[in-house]
Amino acid sequence: MSAVGIAGVGEAFDTVLVVDFGAQYAQLIARRVRECHVYSEIVPPTMSVADMLAKRPKAVILSGGPKSVYSPGAPAVPAGLFDTGVPTLGICYGHQAMAQSLGGTVARTEVAEYGGTALAVTAPGVLFADLPTQQQVWMSHGDTVTREPPGFRVTATTPATPVAGFEAPERGLYGVQFHPEVVHSARGLDVLKRFLYDAAGCRPTWTMVSIVEEALTAIRAQVGDSRVICGLSGGVDSAVAAALVHKAVGDQLTCVFVDHGLLRAGEAKQVERDYVASTGVELVQVKCADRFAAALAGVTDPEAKRKVIGREFIRVFEEAARDLEARAESQGATIDFLVQGTLYPDVIESGSPTAAKIKSHHNVGGLPADLHFALVEPLRHLFKDEVRRVGEELGLPPEIVWRQPFPGPGLAVRIIGEVTPERLRLLRAADEVVREEIRKAGLDREIWQVFAVLLADVRSVGVQGDERTYGHPVVIRAVTSEDAMTADWARLPYDVLERIANRVINEVPGVNRVAYDVTSKPPGTIEWE
Ligand code: XMP
Repeated sequence: MSAVGIAGVGEAFDTVLVVDFGAQYAQLIARRVRECHVYSEIVPPTMSVADMLAKRPKAVILSGGPKSVYSPGAPAVPAGLFDTGVPTLGICYGHQAMAQSLGGTVARTEVAEYGGTALAVTAPGVLFADLPTQQQVWMSHGDTVTREPPGFRVTATTPATPVAGFEAPERGLYGVQFHPEVVHSARGLDVLKRFLYDAAGCRPTWTMVSIVEEALTAIRAQVGDSRVICGLSGGVDSAVAAALVHKAVGDQLTCVFVDHGLLRAGEAKQVERDYVASTGVELVQVKCADRFAAALAGVTDPEAKRKVIGREFIRVFEEAARDLEARAESQGATIDFLVQGTLYPDVIESGSPTAAKIKSHHNVGGLPADLHFALVEPLRHLFKDEVRRVGEELGLPPEIVWRQPFPGPGLAVRIIGEVTPERLRLLRAADEVVREEIRKAGLDREIWQVFAVLLADVRSVGVQGDERTYGHPVVIRAVTSEDAMTADWARLPYDVLERIANRVINEVPGVNRVAYDVTSKPPGTIEWE
């Protein structure tokens, strides 16, 4: 699969580069910049200044990072960056690295500052112009800038940090010790805006309307008159990607929806009916629940399940693609492109060394690397929240736009034990109750994922209406998370848990016990398999 012709972000947008010094917060900085309607990209500190300039940045932000600027192997500011004249803001480690490179001093102070801290603005300069002289900011550092570089002016201090802000506007250089990107810095977003608009002159053009317009132009330029296919999974990414491509090239696009029978209640209908109604895409449905059920018979090992599902999915998709190609050829056309809903975080992560394999994830429900189509990836510059807003802009149904992440192998990895049609029915019914009660309680958008897990190989004794029961437990799993890399179990209100438990036991025959999973990630994973 050759990844060519990626939709670019175009001339309409100014670019801010966020140099990632290993911060927890680099993605957050990039997202905040975009919330200020300016396009941002994350780049590594190993990128040369020439490569940075090739991206024609309007501004650069140096992120925080876990190291001390003096520790061996501490990442350095790309050589020559401060001579380019590109306005640059250092945050936390970036602030210290800027100070150190330009002749200031950085030292380990007696008192590390973590958490909320009172900042006193001593000279507002550009970044604090018209902002309160006392403000609450979020700090997380051990080292501190003790003397500003020559030619810089100190703008703010805190009790433990003499140089909590500095600037040299003539050279376009600015630094702050605190984290303006986190919500706990009360005026952080204003400080960021001062930098973007006033210091760097960025235009606030990164809006949903212009993102969609630029994407449509880029897709049309890439695809021309060719035909395109897209695999819909029922999830938000492929749904938005396909809707964009359809808006750009209309009936040159055909979507393929593999209904493997492992979806949640109502999902297949939402794709077949609501999605098609709102977009007008041509949809080829492959109903193959029996094929997947047969392939999964007798399989209990979690990795084996994933492999079986991944293999069958690819086979089904390839068969469907071949049929469509034959049809296109009979009309004198060819299918040259495949749409993928790749998002920006996948693009950034693919640049870093891969983490240990914990589960054979994202190849499940995905496609192999050797398909002969070129890729159209209209979302590869976007964060998930932007994808949802594009989906809304395109008028997609809210149930699809706001859908929680769902794994490629579907309900199969939520049945602990062999997957059978009867067990799928049971889990689907329990899961529907869980999701319905969470929705009614208004909690679905603040919870990252919430679902039911069926312990199909476990039975426990209960009593219902004077009768002894011997049924399966269902586990409720609900987590909060930013990115699924780490997660915390959600503190669901007891009354919501109670309603769920009562309804599941009353409405799903065969289930006689409900448990709540209170494991965070790590050490648990979000899914049970
Ligand atoms: P875990 O269970 O590893 O899951 O904490 C992290 C996130 O990934 C989702 N997930 C998958 N997504 N294909 C996917 O596209 C998969 O095979 C897969 N397995 C897990 C999971 O739902 C959670 O959001």
